[in-house]
Amino acid sequence: MDERIIATDEQSTDDWQTGLRPRRLSEYIGQEKAKKNLSVFVKAATARKEALDHVLLYGPPGLGKTTLAAIIANELGVNFRPTSGPAIERSGDLAALLTNLQPRDVLFIDEIHRLSRQVEEILYSAMEDFALDIIIGKGQGARSIRLDISPFTLVGATTKAGALSPPLRDRFGVISRLEYYSTEALVEIITRAAEILKIPIEPNGAEEIARRSRGTPRIANRLLKRVRDFAQVAGSSTITNEIADTALLELEVDRAGLDHTDRRMLDAMINKFHGGPVGLETIAASISETRETIEDIYEPYLLQLGFIMRTPRGRVVTEAGYSHMKISYPGKNKNETRLFDFDEDF
Ligand code: ADE
Repeated sequence: MDERIIATDEQSTDDWQTGLRPRRLSEYIGQEKAKKNLSVFVKAATARKEALDHVLLYGPPGLGKTTLAAIIANELGVNFRPTSGPAIERSGDLAALLTNLQPRDVLFIDEIHRLSRQVEEILYSAMEDFALDIIIGKGQGARSIRLDISPFTLVGATTKAGALSPPLRDRFGVISRLEYYSTEALVEIITRAAEILKIPIEPNGAEEIARRSRGTPRIANRLLKRVRDFAQVAGSSTITNEIADTALLELEVDRAGLDHTDRRMLDAMINKFHGGPVGLETIAASISETRETIEDIYEPYLLQLGFIMRTPRGRVVTEAGYSHMKISYPGKNKNETRLFDFDEDF
């Protein structure tokens, strides 16, 4: 996707191999609500010796949906079979996956909103009746046969719950939303990762990295490794607050976790469009990005921080956003009096 240090897509250095990913619910930090519910459902299904109900995990990227799915399989004591929406091109691909499942296995489909319509339709009977309806032959002689498959648990993950078709969404018994992590939870995650990677770190060094990790463990762990490189080259064996701060500024991750591109976007909104309201399409064109990239990657965190707002007439930079960019706020009534273009979303 992109090479930003604060990118949320999985990158090659990420953490399956290094032992950073927690394997049990008890090791998984944060997401208390999802964790508590899942733990009850896992225990109940295990006691009944049944497959766990299908689970949909949704929320922004990098919050641990795949990790949680793998933990569910581990807690159930069954196989974890990961795949993704775009990887399942034809119905036959899905049929092959489904017929190879052992009883109670977890089939994990990442980016489940990207399944094709035909593939999705195969899933309906698989999820509901643990059966595959297969059409054999063509034209007049065509007939449908029903093939039983093992009871299994589908864990679907998506960043866009709204993009899921209602018939698919309705077939999930458990729907869990993952939230951005608090700084405290990220401090725990960074401290745990530093211990595993044998990186000495002071508590306020961990806190500095946590505050700048956009509520996202995947970013926190990546920043930890980069800050370690800076510490090493600077001849310091321990990550202190000061080293973390200097390293992150060198990496162009500012004190709120914004990188060069986020700042470019805020800067364009303020300086080219007087802080908005301005439409997504217009923002995208002004910084040579696509509308989708802005919407999926940059905007969610800026909204979360309260640096921008969605209004019926477009995106607006808030007082907090101006203040972060060290530009004086033009005043509260400005947005009522100026209209730069219409937002395509409304
Ligand atoms: N590493 C990444 N995410 C984590 C989490 N939620 N808990 C513990 N370690 C993690």
